[in-house]
Amino acid sequence: MDLTGIDLARIPRHVAAVMDGNGRWATQRGLKRTEGHAAGEHALFDTVDGAIELGLEWFTVYAFSTENWKRPPDEVRYLMGFNKGILERHAEDLNERNVRINFIGRRDWRVPRGVMRRIDWAMDLTQHNTGLTFTIAFNYGGRAEIVDAVKRLIADGVAADKVDEKAIRQRLYCPDLPDPELMVRTSGEFRTSNFLLWELAYSELVFTDVLWPDFRKQHLADAIREYQARERRFGAVSSS
Ligand code: IPE
Ligand code: IPE
Ligand code: MG
Repeated sequence: MDLTGIDLARIPRHVAAVMDGNGRWATQRGLKRTEGHAAGEHALFDTVDGAIELGLEWFTVYAFSTENWKRPPDEVRYLMGFNKGILERHAEDLNERNVRINFIGRRDWRVPRGVMRRIDWAMDLTQHNTGLTFTIAFNYGGRAEIVDAVKRLIADGVAADKVDEKAIRQRLYCPDLPDPELMVRTSGEFRTSNFLLWELAYSELVFTDVLWPDFRKQHLADAIREYQARERRFGAVSSS
């Protein structure tokens, strides 16, 4: 990884990634869309390697959205099995590397039980690890997360005048998940597609034309370089 120009003292704590463009990558090669997802596995774990080497504390990826159920049933079925397979193939290795595997999303009846069981197994296996926290957003929607938080507020009997940002944050899927300083999206699409709506409020967004199966740790380093060149103002005036 070429870290030229990167200030190692200002590496973001949390980077989030929308892994997009698998279908187009496959179509360009005359392959089935699902083969693009398969090719994304190498990209994902190369990037996780990069996240570890860069010393990120949190790395979160969008693996399946609440809207992705609209895809053809064969592709949905493939993605369910694929995400289960990813954990089967990589959780033990990640565990040895002190990575904590985390999940955010809705546990609903549409997710096959075996997939949820695999997710729970991987989280249990790695729960005491103290290195990178690798969060998989699966059957995740930013609006669903906020709706679910509001339901919990009501279930907890929180009075209207006690509802504030802290009360909502405490009821998100993972209250400890820090706001990402940086979100990267591949494949030249300039949108969030319902990813981390609450958490991305002040994130720096970096978009690249690279299709996800071609993404490597170097692209993560490049995105961090771009992030470090930005000025974050959080609504205030420039400090310089
Ligand atoms: C991202 O690649 C993977 C998922 C959404 C699961 P896509 O499948 O969206 O690829 P494109 O956008 O169709 O190229
Ligand atoms: C976002 O990508 C979801 C994931 C990467 C899991 P999509 O490809 O589903 O998003 P849209 O449809 O282009 O907005
Ligand atoms: Mg897409």
